[in-house]
Amino acid sequence: MKGIILAGGNGSRLLPLTLVGSKQLAPVYDKPMIYYPLSILMLAGIDDVLVIARPAEIELYRRLFGDGSRLGMRVEYARQDEPRGIADAFLVGATHIKGEDCALILGDNLFHGAKLPTLLRRTAAELRGCVLFGHQVAEPERFGVAEIDAKGRLVSIEEKPERPRSNLAIPGLYFFDDTVTDIARGLRPSPRGELEITDVLRAYLAEGRADLVWLGRGVTWLDAGTHESLLDAGRFVRDIQHRQGISLGCVEEIAMYMGFIDAEACHRLGAEMSASPYGRYVMRSARSHQLHPAPDTILGE
Ligand code: TTP
Repeated sequence: MKGIILAGGNGSRLLPLTLVGSKQLAPVYDKPMIYYPLSILMLAGIDDVLVIARPAEIELYRRLFGDGSRLGMRVEYARQDEPRGIADAFLVGATHIKGEDCALILGDNLFHGAKLPTLLRRTAAELRGCVLFGHQVAEPERFGVAEIDAKGRLVSIEEKPERPRSNLAIPGLYFFDDTVTDIARGLRPSPRGELEITDVLRAYLAEGRADLVWLGRGVTWLDAGTHESLLDAGRFVRDIQHRQGISLGCVEEIAMYMGFIDAEACHRLGAEMSASPYGRYVMRSARSHQLHPAPDTILGE
């Protein structure tokens, strides 16, 4: 399965921060925002990822991840010249997807929860059609909203409805089978001029090929698209890291746990950053993985 991180967009709600830089490179506590969505794709077992970004920022992302080989992955880059909508990811990324299943995650979405890694791997393994997630929120009218029937089956999807039919928001993480590119090619821009992800999801739903997976109370979902939510996300990461002595979104550690790289390679990556607490954490994690390869806390088993 291929992965796509959509890291373009205007970032207009974060101005002036985004005048000279990409939102998804902004720090969420101790690391660039994009580490968090990348780590989610990795935990789903995906080691082949396309980063879609604005032309001016492609090189900055390349500086972060290179060709991905240091993490035992393949990372490629594609430019989105204009923010034509989330579903444009499948057109920009068509040659990368190349008829495979894919997971799309928005570059400003953060997820955390012990059961999440298992859930993601199961979702990827059992995918038929498309899977979107539902997450209970206090203000569903701010999001895409999913309606489910008494048996938990997906019934409708609405974008920012005035009167939401449920409190299940749809986070920016989706799994699609190999028909997604064809579906995206058939889309027309919405009244706001964008290729809408909800139209893709609705096309699957109309064919009876869309499943909703409820994330449940144990999973936290944050997006970091405003000044307040960016600060909240940073605080959230800091609080968990300090309290539990673990790191969220630590791509080197996850690469090791997923078996993309070995502990030696992970230790080397940490050592390159040993002046920072992050680098020292990566080194410690590599050493302790060598001593006690199991049980692991990262993969949620
Ligand atoms: P949004 O938060 O909806 O848009 P934005 O990032 O441009 O921010 P703002 O509303 O403040 O102007 O986008 C959600 C995510 O998807 C975010 O990570 C940016 C990304 N995105 C693209 O990469 N290309 C696009 O065409 C769109 C619409 C979004």
